[in-house]
Amino acid sequence: TAFTVGYFVGSLSRESINRTLSKALIALAPPELSFAEIPIGDLPLYNRDFDADYPPSARALKEAITAADAILFITPEYNRSIPGALKNALDWASRPWGTNSLTHKPAGVIGASSGALGTVLAQQSLRGVLAFCNAPQMTAPEAYIHFTPEVFLADGTVTNEGTREFLRTYLQEFADFVERVHTILPQRRG
Ligand code: FNR
Repeated sequence: TAFTVGYFVGSLSRESINRTLSKALIALAPPELSFAEIPIGDLPLYNRDFDADYPPSARALKEAITAADAILFITPEYNRSIPGALKNALDWASRPWGTNSLTHKPAGVIGASSGALGTVLAQQSLRGVLAFCNAPQMTAPEAYIHFTPEVFLADGTVTNEGTREFLRTYLQEFADFVERVHTILPQRRG
């Protein structure tokens, strides 16, 4: 079965290594997965006063999540947690109460860091948010990417065959996970 993956890049930086990782993942993905970015950079800071009348950027965010068959988070670690911009997007997506767009949406988590731990604590933090928001997560395999510019070129080329194989396996496992979730859980459609 073919699935559309809505992907979030947790960094707003123009030179984001996580954006580079997203390009590598798209290039290495199995043919049954297609990708559409769900942008988070234009969202205002959420507060519940917006619940009565969501702004267009937030409506678009919720519609994009609903339209996707799965969501994939490609995020840096900021101060041992997720970037505020990504948490803000998840807060928007989860509300107004009773319209949580993340419900039953199969989710994957991956991230790249310049540090050796490869976003392990950001991912743990993100998993807590996704659990509360009722998004089933692929919990294995995990993928903690220690980013080096020799292995990940700016256009998404991965120069190391071992890393390519690791990412291919991760993506195939994700496709299989999405398929399993869709056989079990009804998906919200609008
Ligand atoms: C970082 N960085 C970082 N790295 C890490 O492994 N653990 C951490 O907790 C943090 N904390 C952190 C906070 C802030 C505010 C910044 C700007 C950076 C370093 C981080 O891995 C590096 O800047 C990456 O390049 C960020 O990813 P993007 O934005 O390039 O995708």
